Amino acid sequence: MDEDAGSMERIFNCGAGAIVTKSIGLKPRDGYPNPTVIELDHGILNAMGLPNPGIDNFKDEITKLKKIKIPIIASIFGSDLKDFVKLAEKMQSYGANAVELNMSCPHAKGYGLEIGCDPDLVKKITFHVKKSITIPVFVKLSPNLVNITEIAKSAEDGNADGIVAINTVKAMKIDLELKMPVLSNKIGGYSGKAVKPIGIRCVYEISQNVNIPIIGVGGITTGEDVIEYLMAGASAVQVGSALYYRGLDVFKKICDEVNQWMTKHGYKNLSELIGVAHK
Ligand code: DHB
Repeated sequence: MDEDAGSMERIFNCGAGAIVTKSIGLKPRDGYPNPTVIELDHGILNAMGLPNPGIDNFKDEITKLKKIKIPIIASIFGSDLKDFVKLAEKMQSYGANAVELNMSCPHAKGYGLEIGCDPDLVKKITFHVKKSITIPVFVKLSPNLVNITEIAKSAEDGNADGIVAINTVKAMKIDLELKMPVLSNKIGGYSGKAVKPIGIRCVYEISQNVNIPIIGVGGITTGEDVIEYLMAGASAVQVGSALYYRGLDVFKKICDEVNQWMTKHGYKNLSELIGVAHK
């Protein structure tokens, strides 16, 4: 739902405050052959392989969205500093409101986590992207790291405007009859309800060590999940897998639930809740 203007507009009309696009690279990519996604008992396992139309073809989609004034956070992936800078500059010129650097895709050779596990590279890429554009730069991090806080600090040192935590958790499903992994790529990323405690822990740890805002993501399905991420230290949240579980109007449902929880517990502003679990 995050790759063409029509579906992104539908999502926006269902109550999302902004849209994060599919990660876009320099060249069109088909992604991995099927099977690329499977529902498991407590979440969703996927390895799409970064399929995307390429940055030049993506211009039309953003241009259409700009006409209807939808805030766009453009996710980009590259294999080095030059790629990220070029992609960020193009996204800004198309009218994106912010860019999100994908340094966390768990299974694409040469991309994502292979970059996001190197603190110096994260700092360098963030720093140069920041210098080349004026819109905010967010860095999306992986939970598949020994120390996510160290990488978050590198992003902060590179002048990132915010941290996005977390991307999917590396995982695998084996089919007992076929005696082989279900996904064509064998290894994928796990999302949905099962990963929420991992996301909460990462946001909590990061917020103890960085001073820039955190966008919490991972398993958010209900309003209470949002409240928990705020208490851990997030200032905003992203929702993905819950679209599958609760339908397109999940955004409106979650906002209503957040409002109800706040009324019941005597809160007027979300800001009163950010980081309270640290006190
Ligand atoms: C894909 C997976 C990710 O976790 C991500 O951040 C971006 C892309 C993918 O498989 O396409």
